[in-house]
Amino acid sequence: MCGIVGYTGFQEAYSVVVNGLKRLEYRGYDSAGVVLEVPESGFYIAKTKGKVADLVSISQSFEGKARIGMGHTRWATHGVPSDKNAHPHLSNNGKISIVHNGIIENYDTIKKILTDKGYTFGSETDTEVLVNFIQYFMDTDPALDFSEAVRYALNEVYGAYAIAVMHRDFHGELVVARLGSPLAIGLGEKEYFIASDASPFVEFTKEAIYLEEGHMATISLDKGVDIRTIKGNERITPAIQELKLSLEEIEKGGYEHFMLKEIFEQPKSIHDTLRGRVLVDEGIIKMAGIWDHLERFSKADRIIIIACGTSWHAGLTGEYLIEEYARIPVEVEYASEFRYRNPIITERDVVIAISQSGETADTMAAIKLAKEKGAFIYGICNVVDSSIARISDAGSYTHAGPEIGVASTKAFTAQLTILSLIALKLGKHNGNLGNAEFMKLISELETLPKKIEEVLETTHGSIKEMSKNFLEVSNFLYLGRGYNFPTALEGALKLKEISYIHAEGYPAAEMKHGPIALIDENMPIVIIAPQKGHYDKIVSNVQEIKARKGKVISVVNYADSRVSKMSDYTIEIPDSSECFSPILASVPLQLMAYYIAVYRGANVDQPRNLAKSVTVE
Ligand code: F6R
Repeated sequence: MCGIVGYTGFQEAYSVVVNGLKRLEYRGYDSAGVVLEVPESGFYIAKTKGKVADLVSISQSFEGKARIGMGHTRWATHGVPSDKNAHPHLSNNGKISIVHNGIIENYDTIKKILTDKGYTFGSETDTEVLVNFIQYFMDTDPALDFSEAVRYALNEVYGAYAIAVMHRDFHGELVVARLGSPLAIGLGEKEYFIASDASPFVEFTKEAIYLEEGHMATISLDKGVDIRTIKGNERITPAIQELKLSLEEIEKGGYEHFMLKEIFEQPKSIHDTLRGRVLVDEGIIKMAGIWDHLERFSKADRIIIIACGTSWHAGLTGEYLIEEYARIPVEVEYASEFRYRNPIITERDVVIAISQSGETADTMAAIKLAKEKGAFIYGICNVVDSSIARISDAGSYTHAGPEIGVASTKAFTAQLTILSLIALKLGKHNGNLGNAEFMKLISELETLPKKIEEVLETTHGSIKEMSKNFLEVSNFLYLGRGYNFPTALEGALKLKEISYIHAEGYPAAEMKHGPIALIDENMPIVIIAPQKGHYDKIVSNVQEIKARKGKVISVVNYADSRVSKMSDYTIEIPDSSECFSPILASVPLQLMAYYIAVYRGANVDQPRNLAKSVTVE
């Protein structure tokens, strides 16, 4: 939520900042702004409601004169998207400028104090309150150093934030801080970068410091990077990391959208998720996170999976997998509900937290709660070194590579792959899964990248064509049973979030208990019906739909004869064990959502009101 970028060095700051904002636009895109320190004339600020492209059209670069600057792309929390609420914000004396990602929860109390002292506010944001609060400390003690004033202010605020601040009288200095939202510092040759993730500076440097929770840094060309704790002002020696990210990974590479690129990357991403973990010749699954904690898992009374959105859907599939193969009871919880409902958690519980971004505020809070009660936390994250990865006791990275399209695709199938590995590993370890079955399943896991490639090759053209038939539709139903009930939920979420068509996922048998009332000749119903599992039951469900003239789009195996005969449209996927069918069935549903959204003229990579990394609750 919100992207922050900043630069100090020898390049034209405007270009570095604006190009960086384009890379961070996935984090929020309802308004954008830039501030530059222009020699002899002070701050230049341009900001606007809209996208970075709109900012470019109203702003200027000062042709290389400005060497330090910051930018922001916003996902509105306090105050509607508007020019005046866009960041950067300025303090009343015009000397301090700030960009902010997150929420200052006690901003109204501080605003009241400042208003009583004569400070005024031109926006509805919490951010403008914070920048004036910093000014207040400097007004109160004119000898106070700028970074100390920032620290004083931060010690009084509650909430979650990453901020970057500049002061006109402290030339060439950027002050940054983080609590709950990520912030990376890129270390170049005579230049420094700051950003919400490393993508804005990956072409300039391979060295970065990821600011830790509760730390702040003063960055200048003269003094370098000085990191301190916000609370105690203790100096910290930072760990410098080598960036593994490549430019290729964060560019569209010839695809029209990141989402399409990421859908097509799935053979590779699943291969990367499995790499080094499935050793068929040795007959083992080797995953450091699980390997070192097998006993903790085996002794668990139950496993609680916490996540949000698409990751929660992966968690539901995880429940089927772990209960079937490891026979350990599993509960799957929305992190946002779990954190507030005083759940019963004991030291014998294992909590699996799933998050692509590793930053989701609700999932973080749920983890903290479970940790306090003594549960063991196993994180499944895609973003390396993210907050959830760090706070977990152990875990596995999905290694799907950067996911930039706001709608999650390759991260989801990678999460399913990791959960399959966990279930099979635990099942083998605790003796619930015999060796022959284990060997069969791990060998099959290795074939999944090839099968996904086949799905993409054989279904892409027909799904593209078929999607044109659903542009005027207002509602969709997605139905599946067993392992493919969560696939139905995920298929519906994908469609609604990018095409804005209302879609609901249901267990197919639940249809009779309500949703069947919606079915008529205008209602498309997506049925996920691979031949394993509850195929016969699904056949009956399709008959019930056809009796009410619903339009059936079925996802079936090649050998299917019954469901496909009753379907208006058929999408064929290769045969697999039932437990892996969600991975294969999800791919055509992603393609279908993508094409329907594209034909309806929606911005699939940046759907309205959404943002990739939900760092506020
Ligand atoms: C949907 C989507 C969201 C996320 C959710 C959790 O396509 O991407 O529903 O899955 O916001 O995000 P993470 O996985 O980053 O915790």
